[in-house]
Amino acid sequence: TVYSDEYIASVKVAQRIAELIRYKQGRNEKAVLGLATGATPVKVYSELVRLHREEGLSFRNVITFNLDEYYPMQPTAVQSYVTFMNENLFDHIDINRNNIHIPDGTLPLEKIHDYCLDYERKIESVGGLDLQLLGIGRTGHIGFNEPGSAPNSGTRLVTLDDLTRRDASRDFGGKENVPRKAITMGIGTIFKAREIILMAWSGKKASIIKKAVEGEISGDVPATYLQLSDNVEFVLDQDAASEL
Ligand code: GLP
Repeated sequence: TVYSDEYIASVKVAQRIAELIRYKQGRNEKAVLGLATGATPVKVYSELVRLHREEGLSFRNVITFNLDEYYPMQPTAVQSYVTFMNENLFDHIDINRNNIHIPDGTLPLEKIHDYCLDYERKIESVGGLDLQLLGIGRTGHIGFNEPGSAPNSGTRLVTLDDLTRRDASRDFGGKENVPRKAITMGIGTIFKAREIILMAWSGKKASIIKKAVEGEISGDVPATYLQLSDNVEFVLDQDAASEL
């Protein structure tokens, strides 16, 4: 779906999320959301905060699982995805903190494997993801599933691509400060979501969006795997869609 600009697109995505939350509330069920970080979803989150403040949208029945976190990363660091989520969403809504899950960037290496299996189990134990939000990196990554990721991959520790670290360098004051690794949900984890919305804004994303939507399905561009799913929506602004 192509919108004239990212503001309108973000409001539409936020409305879809609010609709899901309210539908689940009506049935006395939890809404399980897979959340993304980066610049792309910021306006979706600010619209959700507005809906909470001005229209009484409650997040008491919402459980969230974030896609990824840098490794190593202290949750209190300014660049952590914990800080990002708190500042952009969680500090401003009525979500129960126990319902928030973000991969732990502080674990010792030897504990990560079991931790990742447990992350998958936790998602399953609440009935799976109802809706997964995604951005896209210029390598074609979703979450931090870089080129070479397997379509059935689960939550795991990965090595970040050089281009991804370069793109993150501004946040860290230089590429040398960007962590080399991250913990990310896998492509397989993302695929199990009952609904997937990938968002992309601006001409900077146009060429990777063309590859993701029209290119040959391949691990070289992990987002191409989304072509295999029939519950995916690409929500784009005109500039991101300009090469389609
Ligand atoms: C990071 C995140 C991804 C995100 C991507 C794009 O690598 N791990 O989940 O989609 O950046 O970021 P942005 O939305 O800032 O373009």
